Amino acid sequence: MRHSNILPLVFSLYFLTLFLPIQARHHYHTKHKHSHYHNSPEISPSPAPFSAPSSAPDEAPSPSPSFNENYHNASNFFDLRTFGAIGDGITDDTESFKMAWDTACQSESSVKTIIVPRGLSFIIQSTIFTGPCKGGLVLKVDGTLIPPDGPESWPKNNSRRQWLVFYRINGMSLEGSGVIDGRGAKWWDLPCKPHKGPNGTTSPGPCDSPVAIRFFMSSNLTVQGLRIKNSPQFHFRFDGCESVHVDSIFITAPALSPNTDGIHIENTNDVKIYNSVISNGDDCVSIGAGCHDVDIKNMTCGPGHGISIGSLGNHNSRACVSNITVRDSVIKVSDNGVRIKTWQGGSGSVSRVTFSNIHMESVRNPIIIDQFYCLTKDCSNKTSAVFVTDILYTNIKGTYDIRHPPMHFACSDSVPCTNLTLSDIELLPALGDIMLDPFCWSAYGNSQTLTIPPISCLQEGLPQSVPGNDIDHC
Ligand SMILES: *[C@@H]1O[C@H](CO)[C@@H](O)[C@H](O)[C@H]1NC(C)=O
Ligand SMILES: *[C@@H]1O[C@H](CO)[C@@H](O)[C@H](O)[C@H]1NC(C)=O
Ligand SMILES: *[C@@H]1O[C@H](CO)[C@@H](O)[C@H](O)[C@H]1NC(C)=O
Ligand SMILES: *[C@@H]1O[C@H](CO)[C@@H](O)[C@H](O)[C@H]1NC(C)=O
Ligand SMILES: *[C@@H]1O[C@H](CO)[C@@H](O)[C@H](O)[C@H]1NC(C)=O
Ligand SMILES: *[C@@H]1O[C@H](CO)[C@@H](O)[C@H](O)[C@H]1NC(C)=O
Ligand SMILES: *[C@@H]1O[C@H](CO)[C@@H](O)[C@H](O)[C@H]1NC(C)=O
Ligand SMILES: *[C@@H]1O[C@H](CO)[C@@H](O)[C@H](O)[C@H]1NC(C)=O
Repeated sequence: MRHSNILPLVFSLYFLTLFLPIQARHHYHTKHKHSHYHNSPEISPSPAPFSAPSSAPDEAPSPSPSFNENYHNASNFFDLRTFGAIGDGITDDTESFKMAWDTACQSESSVKTIIVPRGLSFIIQSTIFTGPCKGGLVLKVDGTLIPPDGPESWPKNNSRRQWLVFYRINGMSLEGSGVIDGRGAKWWDLPCKPHKGPNGTTSPGPCDSPVAIRFFMSSNLTVQGLRIKNSPQFHFRFDGCESVHVDSIFITAPALSPNTDGIHIENTNDVKIYNSVISNGDDCVSIGAGCHDVDIKNMTCGPGHGISIGSLGNHNSRACVSNITVRDSVIKVSDNGVRIKTWQGGSGSVSRVTFSNIHMESVRNPIIIDQFYCLTKDCSNKTSAVFVTDILYTNIKGTYDIRHPPMHFACSDSVPCTNLTLSDIELLPALGDIMLDPFCWSAYGNSQTLTIPPISCLQEGLPQSVPGNDIDHC
């Protein structure tokens, strides 16, 4: 695939940056313009699959006037070593990385590639890579990026909530055959993490841990082919972004690592998450407030906590989530399969969600809506809630862990769930032959086919008081 095609190019670049002075590079690349063009599909000038972002006009860099002329220019490549990075896994290479970023970002050519070379390991402190940049940017990680090792080594003046941050970038691809290793173990063991305190308790205290990779207020982003592991907290967080395409990535963290969500999105629209494999200690993908038009396909999740919409409505907040599709995926050995979770007291709605063609293997709650989400066990009942409506579950098959019912719809008394549709559901116990009945509370909808186990607890029609125009206001 793409990576094998680009290998010759990458190796030639190592050679160049190691042994040739910068002036010589133009010459070399001029001679080989054609092979570069054909070997680099990810920076080819073919039409981008994304629509133009609608917001932030003043941030959009104008495209460079002459794409083809600049395309073969060797100065389109920015190897960290050219900027003094060592990559021995001991030296702090933050300043070199920043310099490479700033130089690439300000370079006039339309697509610039920053290269983290193979075989080397770069220590980078918490850094905000800021745009807007002039034209598109590729960050090609073929080597390894690591942060300082754990909270003790984290520089005191660095944010403890984020590691690599990309801010106000329009048009960026993060890719490569390398690894981004968050070295999270020492963060997971902080006494403030669940069950890490004395005698299996959680001790109070500052508990911030960095998100490995955060994209903030950015658009037209592609993340592909990378391996990311052991983040101290979420592996990816997209916040306030538009047009995001994640493809063929591999995320791993231990099943017991706290809050290590694979990909978290919030206030982010037009999202495609495809062909990726995620095993971790929390949600595989989590979808927060303000997301719409999200397509998730061909994922393999687990062990972990499954694919979640939520939690929404915390601290009486308003949340709007709509037009979400999760399809053609496998969820295994997980606490949940496909979940919608909301706190009491919130407002807004979750609507037009489709979960289809999902295979479950030993999942504790394969299908669950929980509108009583609560972490402290003493949340009081409230009358407002995030309205959940128009949810379709189709062709969801496999096995469940017998400790919980395979279908669980716990909806708000005052704001019931409506129009839940089930079709081709077949969930069998992973062990033994005891079938647990589905659970419903305040849940309206219907089953289009006989489900296994049979569901008879959904209420037909609509509740007497349908929530106001929460959807219209979203
Ligand atoms: C490469 O592009 C830079 C500006 O991005 C320009 O200054 C330089 O002359 C170009 N070099 C060649 C060989 O085209
Ligand atoms: C942290 O402090 C070091 C040295 O005092 C300085 O070089 C660095 O720029 C500071 N980093 C931040 C994020 O303020
Ligand atoms: C999206 O980014 C790519 C480079 O990553 C660029 O070629 C393309 O023009 C950008 N599209 C828009 C609409 O900004
Ligand atoms: C932990 O449990 C032991 C024995 O039950 C007790 O003596 C000790 O005080 C407890 N420690 C804390 C911090 O609660
Ligand atoms: C699904 O994703 C896996 C893992 O990335 C990949 O190997 C496989 O080819 C994908 N399947 C399809 C139909 O794209
Ligand atoms: C729903 O989202 C998909 C992308 O996942 C998009 O193609 C489609 O147009 C959206 N539908 C509506 C009605 O906005
Ligand atoms: C909240 O409401 C649910 C459903 O009516 C009920 O099962 C639960 O006991 C209530 N909790 C409290 C604390 O009143
Ligand atoms: C119920 O939800 C389905 C999608 O699951 C949608 O196609 C249908 O229009 C909804 N029905 C009503 C009455 O809104």
